[in-house]
Amino acid sequence: MTKHKDSTARSFHFVYIVTFIVGTIIQSSDESEFAVDMSNSGLTQVPKGLPTKTQVLDMSQNYISELHLSDVSFLSGLKVLRLSHNRIQCLDISIFKFNQDLEYLDLSHNRLQKLSCHPITNLKHLDLSFNDFDALPLCKEFGNSTQLNFLGLSATKLQQLDLLPIAHLHLNYILLDLEGYYVKENEAESLQILNTKTLHLVFHPNNLFSVQVNISVNTLGCLQLTNIKLNNYNCQIFIKFLSELTRGPTLLNFTLNHVETTWKCLVRVFQFLWPRPVEYLNIYNLTIVESIDEEDFTYSETALKALKMEHVTNRVFLFSQTALYRVFSEMNIMMLTISDTPIIHMLCPEKTSTFKFLNFTQNVLTDSIFQKCSTLVRLETLILRKNELKDLYKVGLMTKDMTSLETLDVSWNSLAYDRHDRNCTWVGSIVVLNLSSNILTHSVFRCLPPRVKVLDLHNNRIRNIPTDVTSLEALQELNVAFNSLAHLPGCGSFSSLSVLTIDYNAISNPSAHFFQSCQKIRSIKAGNNPFQCTCELREFIQSIGQLSSEVVEGWPDSYKCDYPESYKDTLLKDFHVSPLSCNTALLIVTIGVTGLVFIVTVTILCIYFDLPWYLRMVCQWTQTRRRARNINLDELQRTFQFHAFISYSEHDSAWVKNELVPCLEKEDIRICLHERNFVPGKSIVENIITCIENSYKSIFVLSPNFVQSEWCHYELYFAHHHLFHEGSNNLILILLEPIPQNSIPCKYHKLKALMTKRTYLEWPKEKSKHGLFWANIRAAFNVNLTLITENRVKT
Ligand SMILES: *[C@@H]1O[C@H](CO)[C@@H](O)[C@H](O)[C@H]1NC(C)=O
Repeated sequence: MTKHKDSTARSFHFVYIVTFIVGTIIQSSDESEFAVDMSNSGLTQVPKGLPTKTQVLDMSQNYISELHLSDVSFLSGLKVLRLSHNRIQCLDISIFKFNQDLEYLDLSHNRLQKLSCHPITNLKHLDLSFNDFDALPLCKEFGNSTQLNFLGLSATKLQQLDLLPIAHLHLNYILLDLEGYYVKENEAESLQILNTKTLHLVFHPNNLFSVQVNISVNTLGCLQLTNIKLNNYNCQIFIKFLSELTRGPTLLNFTLNHVETTWKCLVRVFQFLWPRPVEYLNIYNLTIVESIDEEDFTYSETALKALKMEHVTNRVFLFSQTALYRVFSEMNIMMLTISDTPIIHMLCPEKTSTFKFLNFTQNVLTDSIFQKCSTLVRLETLILRKNELKDLYKVGLMTKDMTSLETLDVSWNSLAYDRHDRNCTWVGSIVVLNLSSNILTHSVFRCLPPRVKVLDLHNNRIRNIPTDVTSLEALQELNVAFNSLAHLPGCGSFSSLSVLTIDYNAISNPSAHFFQSCQKIRSIKAGNNPFQCTCELREFIQSIGQLSSEVVEGWPDSYKCDYPESYKDTLLKDFHVSPLSCNTALLIVTIGVTGLVFIVTVTILCIYFDLPWYLRMVCQWTQTRRRARNINLDELQRTFQFHAFISYSEHDSAWVKNELVPCLEKEDIRICLHERNFVPGKSIVENIITCIENSYKSIFVLSPNFVQSEWCHYELYFAHHHLFHEGSNNLILILLEPIPQNSIPCKYHKLKALMTKRTYLEWPKEKSKHGLFWANIRAAFNVNLTLITENRVKT
């Protein structure tokens, strides 16, 4: 819980609602419990109205000072109760008598002085540490808690038989807080703890170590001591304290936390532990004070396998570096970890070393580490992560004689390689090389151990993988994520590559060639690159889509288009373009073929079916029909004797009599023919004019004969009569035979004008076209015919 104290001000209801919701969510999965979290809520007492089904109740970090039966008795399903960091002074354990399922009770960091006892049978975890108890708070009733696993206690004084009530229990973990312990004059105390696997003792954080109790534990496997403050004077007290505790043959793990000591005392502690059965020694948060001088150390035979020191502070500023490093470099153990310390160097062991594993993470080691060192021949793993290494060439050289080295981790340094002149020297045994988080460029590929199988180069500055690198035939896993690569590599130089991690680079157009080149790939991770979703990407998407999702890590979610804008954040999986728009040649061919077919079709239509004629006719037909619809009725009120007057040359009379007239009369169109409706005594022209004026429309059957013989009658009349101006609807021109423009005599201005301005209907030679021709003629009369007829009847 990292909530802040200011939440005190918030109302209880708010917290309650929030926790209630949390509880509901948690409950939804069957195995988990109904939990209510009210930690750090400024509570001064246990709130009323807790849900009765509460199983896990967290009220730690509040200001609760009292606990009553009524606070918890109704929570019959309560299993876990956390009350640490409150202000409880007094506790009657019988208040839990109705909480039969209670397994976990944390009352640490309160102000408990007294405990009234009552058996709680199901308890597994009971923490009473960091309280104000005087003597160990152990009731004989705890002896009934046969399931008890963890017990946290605190006391200021100890007595040998304090733990007798629980002597028969098989505990896993005892936490004993001796922060308030004080030494009584002339009184050597002792405490017998029976049966626990782990014992954790916490001493006062600021006082010099002074506890003189003989603590003996059976079957102890793991010992942890926290807050040890040593100088050259109390060092012996501490070692004496340890001698009883570390006697048992089962003690394998020993951990010291928060240690402040002189170098002299630390070396004495090491020397003391060397012949003991401890196999794993850990020291966390170590501070070295006063001075560092040369100390003798006898590397006797030891059971110790691993020494781990993490987070070391050195308060000594002037000292011989060698004095410090020599103690560690000669250690006859297999594993040594010194991390998060200010050490700047480590010595090469003087004789063949037993080290198999060295971990120097997060120190200030430089390139001079282990140069010309030929004694680390058993070293298998060397970790130099987070140091100050700069030159990859020197790192290679360092490994030269480490003939067993398999794993080298030099990640998080400032390594670069910019030599062109020299070849790198590496020991051939390296299999795993971690060069991640450095500042290496593509030149790193000229300086790699030849038999490396796993190579981690992520988070460097590699822009391309050169093709002319010395081949790494054993390379199976390559990680080049978080670089600036623009292309997928080929596997020409890495013939065994099976795992490639290349996400977070600058790959926009990966080529599918990769999949042909890298046949052994069984895992590729290439997501989070700025893919350019254009035609070129299709082949890649196809290839990657064919692989199973186990091979392509992160597919499809982390493979997204970055460009063009319109496809941004589209998954590659969903990016589709038609093959046509991607293939220019295909596109041109398609357009060409379509165009050609169109032209041929049109040509065929024109040549064989006279398409232009049809188009013209249909066009005229629709125009005529439209005009007929728009016709003004008033105009039609005028009385016409005939629907149509037909003028034609004698030469064309056969066509008029056999074709035109029967067709019109079939439609009930009344026709005025000047020879038929001839009024005697009038001149031809007068007759014609009468006919025209009594007809709704005038039809002229044009042919060269007509122009020669008949037109003379009309030319003068038309020139002066506005009835037949160019836009008039009353004129229908039928072109029976083509009239060449130059065959029209010059004097016929009107005819020329009409011929150029007006559309005329051509009589088609082909029988198949006759239908459309007649439809056009009929359209000119359509609709209004009846009106005219009716008009006539009325008059
Ligand atoms: C290399 O080191 C980094 C961190 O230093 C770690 O995350 C990564 O897993 C290591 N790579 C391999 C292959 O062990």
